[in-house]
Amino acid sequence: MTAQIPNLTQVPWNRPSLGEDEIAEVTDTIRSGWLTHGPKAAALEQAVRDELGVPDAFAVSSCTAALHLALLAAGIGDGDEVITPSLTFCAAPNALRQVGARPVFVDVEPATYNVCPEQAEAAITAATKAMVVMHYGGHPCDLAAFRDLADQHGLLLIEDAAHALLARRDGLRAGTVGDLAAFSFYANKVITTGEGGMLLGRRDLVQRARLLGRHGIDASVWQRHSGGRTAGYEVTVPGLKYVMSDLAAAVGLPQWRKLAAFTARRAEIAAAYTGALAGLPGLATPAVLPGVEPGWFLYSIFIDPAHAPLTREESAERLRTEYGIATSQHFRPVHTLQVHSGSVTCPLPVTETAAARQLSLPCYPAMTDDQVTQVITAVRALWGC
Ligand SMILES: Cc1ncc(COP(=O)(O)O)c(C=O)c1O
Repeated sequence: MTAQIPNLTQVPWNRPSLGEDEIAEVTDTIRSGWLTHGPKAAALEQAVRDELGVPDAFAVSSCTAALHLALLAAGIGDGDEVITPSLTFCAAPNALRQVGARPVFVDVEPATYNVCPEQAEAAITAATKAMVVMHYGGHPCDLAAFRDLADQHGLLLIEDAAHALLARRDGLRAGTVGDLAAFSFYANKVITTGEGGMLLGRRDLVQRARLLGRHGIDASVWQRHSGGRTAGYEVTVPGLKYVMSDLAAAVGLPQWRKLAAFTARRAEIAAAYTGALAGLPGLATPAVLPGVEPGWFLYSIFIDPAHAPLTREESAERLRTEYGIATSQHFRPVHTLQVHSGSVTCPLPVTETAAARQLSLPCYPAMTDDQVTQVITAVRALWGC
């Protein structure tokens, strides 16, 4: 029986683009009899390596798993300070706390809401071991500046590239500049495997993560079975179970092939929104810095209650109830979450202002042109246009 997702709104905030290609690949996997991490996961890793030119990639069960493994593989642990933004999802800060490290939250830049290199540099102490940067909404942070900073201070650079699957800045591709980077293939991301992620970067670290992500066992189940060696293995480190299943990878393979087309459609929708909404009083559209090709995971508007006819909350509520349009918000700053309230922070005024004003409009390839027009018409109507 097909489970029906209730049609709660006419324009959902997100809907994945899945079709016959994904169904065929999943069917093939089921028919093959091999469901866990095996040839399909390896093919997805290869596709990522080929396209990004990174030394290694490991397909895992989520971006959160990739971030946790990144920290474990790099030996980040007790008492280490790690510089990171607070305007992000809780995944990286939670992983930091899980390994015993201390997140040090620094503010973001007012143009892009990306973590600010100058603020990061000011927060470096003798205890700092790494920086976990994030590409807000798919607009890459200043990758070159963070690479320089990491090299100058001997720090590890980890990119939380959950939003930035096909994004570039100054010729640098997001996901390729850090010692390690993590992609998300969660259901609402630019491509999806339902749940899933990819850890990529330096070969020594990814290999260590691969060992840690399969219980610390010296060879994968696929390697052992395909080599006829079904029993007998060694556990060399106390690992966890974080591998991506071949069922998930089967969804991901055709999705990866469509990444460029998906991103182009997102960019088209973003351009339509910016063309129609820029200049409305008290409403800021997302900035795109010169030399940047964003991944457009999010299309954010920022509503300044002092100059807009209505607040962010009123806008979200009226879009939902009067126009059937769902929105979202990214993010509640991590330092305001109960579990992180004791973390090290400097004042974060830009983070707090952005978080109070930000509203994510629907922006995904499955949207029809009519739905895009519906969103534009609704927002303009709320602004009295
Ligand atoms: C910036 C960021 N990092 C990490 C994650 C976690 O991704 P996953 O659900 O694949 O673990 C998310 C999820 O939305 C995110 O927005």
